[in-house]
Amino acid sequence: MILGIETSCDDTSVALVDMTGAILFHQIHSQESLHGTYGGVVPEVASRAHVEVLPSLVRSAFLDTGLSPSHLQGIAVTRGPGLLGSLLTGISFAKGIGSAFRLPLIGVDHVQAHLRACVDSMESLQGKTIGLVISGGHTHLFRIENWPTMELVSQTVDDAAGEAFDKGAKLLGLPYPGGPSIQKEAEKNTLPLLPLTKKRIRTENPLDFSFSGLKTAFSLLVRKTELNERTRPLLAASLQHAIVEHVLDRIEQTVIQESPSHLLVGGGVSANALLRKKLQVFSEQQGMTLHLSPLSLARDNALMIARHGRELFLSGMYTPYPYTSFSPYTREASDVRVKKTVLQP
Ligand code: KG4
Ligand code: ZN
Repeated sequence: MILGIETSCDDTSVALVDMTGAILFHQIHSQESLHGTYGGVVPEVASRAHVEVLPSLVRSAFLDTGLSPSHLQGIAVTRGPGLLGSLLTGISFAKGIGSAFRLPLIGVDHVQAHLRACVDSMESLQGKTIGLVISGGHTHLFRIENWPTMELVSQTVDDAAGEAFDKGAKLLGLPYPGGPSIQKEAEKNTLPLLPLTKKRIRTENPLDFSFSGLKTAFSLLVRKTELNERTRPLLAASLQHAIVEHVLDRIEQTVIQESPSHLLVGGGVSANALLRKKLQVFSEQQGMTLHLSPLSLARDNALMIARHGRELFLSGMYTPYPYTSFSPYTREASDVRVKKTVLQP
């Protein structure tokens, strides 16, 4: 069995999978209510909440399954990218159990795990594959050549797509996390949408994403609008439409340039219903196979960590006890890594 631990941001999650990848236990403890009052994730609050919740989640994993750490083959833990304090909580805990039982530690890249969650098996993908991770922390497009090696095609030059949803929701007085709130509010709209930008968004690399212009246009629009039961859904729907159109524009351009056979889309924002619908239509038009993350695995979760970790373990990509070189990726290291991701044992 592999124990998976995910604590990169504001979800504490634990999973147990057997050596075929079958799920034995999976739980996600969300910190949404803790961060809701601030309208965004507060790093110190997040790490402290992981410290409080992680031990009892791991205990439940063993009590519920009747198993014990001595049954483990290894521990897969998110090594980055993410909030440093949050990552350190999960890694330190994994090292603690791992040391007691002399278990191998498997460092899992969070972004890769989001892509891994889109398919049953990466090996089944024949032909060129493009992967998009859209979440509260990432908007990154990859060319996946020889999994788990992948090359960064483009990324956001400012906010992540999820941040654009979260900040927009805050302006409208809607609860955190903003993505689901905006989607729900937008569903009530019956009015014609308001344009947020007149011009096409330009970036130095035409495939890069940028959400700051949309955000500024949206905040100006909100400032001059009286918020009520008609305008709030209208503004939410207009923002959702603008974000989704921008993501689609970059995907369309990438598809024209790369002609992929497969497109993987994962991360929290991939749960957006409008985006999913539009991606499906576009992929059918292009004759490209779309692999959307299942809704239950779009958000941060430990099952994707345990499953990806299991495969890394089987390929010999792990760190044996006593883990001398095992530490979280720093932001710089992870930026370098995604340009040409090569996992080190
Ligand atoms: O992958 P995730 O759980 O955590 C990160 O790695 O960031 O993604 C969280 C992000 C948040 O910004 C949240 O607002 C967004 O995903 N999100 C959505 C939806 N559900 C979650 N955005 C748009 N529409 C949704 N339905
Ligand atoms: Zn994530």
